[in-house]
Amino acid sequence: MSNRTFTMIKPDATSKGYTGAILDQIIKEGYSVKAMKWTKLTTEQAGLFYDIHRERPFFGELVNFMSSGPIVAAILEKENAVEDFRTLIGATNPANAAEGTIRKNFAASIGENAVHGSDSDENAQIEGDFFFSKLERF
Ligand code: CMP
Repeated sequence: MSNRTFTMIKPDATSKGYTGAILDQIIKEGYSVKAMKWTKLTTEQAGLFYDIHRERPFFGELVNFMSSGPIVAAILEKENAVEDFRTLIGATNPANAAEGTIRKNFAASIGENAVHGSDSDENAQIEGDFFFSKLERF
């Protein structure tokens, strides 16, 4: 069990003005921010981040969407961070997300689902390293 996870607030949510409300929900849930940046991915960078999905039929759509506008990337800390954060964000498809979860509150579809959350401690480390140098995390 690790105490850190990685998240992105995706372009659908940043463009709809949900960034503040999503961060508010995350912080009220007890997470502290260890690194954060507002940035925009190129299609190449989005493809590298989601390389594990390269053979999936939705890969092109995912890469185009994730490079379509700004995102917020962050490393978050809390006990049992990876598992608890996935509960907080809800199911990948917002139609299946529980009441009160971030995706239920803010996401429109399985593709444009407002937030990303790491699915394992190992991926939390890899994904945090993708965005942040040692000088950018505390
Ligand atoms: P995320 O948790 O960021 O991890 C991979 C992403 O792929 C996922 O959220 C969805 O946004 C996206 N994804 C998963 N399944 C589909 C699908 N069937 N169609 C479009 N996008 C998908």
